[in-house]
Amino acid sequence: MNKIVEVLPDTTALIQRSLEVVVEKIQAAIAERGRCTIALSGGSTPKPLYEALATQDLPWGQIHVFWGDERYVPADHPDSNQGMARKAWLDRVQIPAENIHPMPTEAADPAIAAQDYESHLREVLQGQALPALDVILLGLGDDGHTASLFPHTAALQVQDRLITVGNKDGQPRLTFTAPLINAARYVVFVVAGANKQAALKEIFAPTADAMTYPARLVQPQGELWWLFDAAAGQAING
Ligand code: 6PG
Repeated sequence: MNKIVEVLPDTTALIQRSLEVVVEKIQAAIAERGRCTIALSGGSTPKPLYEALATQDLPWGQIHVFWGDERYVPADHPDSNQGMARKAWLDRVQIPAENIHPMPTEAADPAIAAQDYESHLREVLQGQALPALDVILLGLGDDGHTASLFPHTAALQVQDRLITVGNKDGQPRLTFTAPLINAARYVVFVVAGANKQAALKEIFAPTADAMTYPARLVQPQGELWWLFDAAAGQAING
């Protein structure tokens, strides 16, 4: 694993730097393999990054977009990660509809939806035993969760699936598992806000407990980027 940590002076600089890194990795993947597979994070932090990506002149036909986690709601629900990314970015660029791969949230049983998405992911990534996406974007919750891998939940222990059902306060979510995240070529955390300091301090401590701070499970084979604004990054700079 090659870990890169950058603390940017403010959130605007964080988004600008995140855009540079993500565009660089998208272009590298296309140059090396003819396409880029990227999984998006949800929540609020990445929205301006997605809006910035909508301004880029990229070969959208060679880019396939997935989600690293999703709330178990319809795409038009205000909490939908799919809905946020479509409004901020995907509806504004000429990306083929078949290149957008949202997590399904229609099935009554989220476990069925997780299995369906896993099958779809394997099909698009041409059936590797442990598929390696090119880019996975991640955020960090103030409790140390990432994707929908929440502290002390069963999802943290799943090693034999790519997609599983996460649980936030009793609400189901679909999420990448740690093995799938760790198979990626480039994992990019984008973290903003002083409320993330406590979790970051723990995650960067040598003795962090991954069950309590699940972002600690992210130890990818490839590059691991941690991009913070100063408000969050103070935790690292002491
Ligand atoms: C989600 C995310 C989640 C998010 C963190 C941080 O679906 O909410 O994927 O892991 O990245 O909760 O969220 P904020 O960026 O809103 O602080």
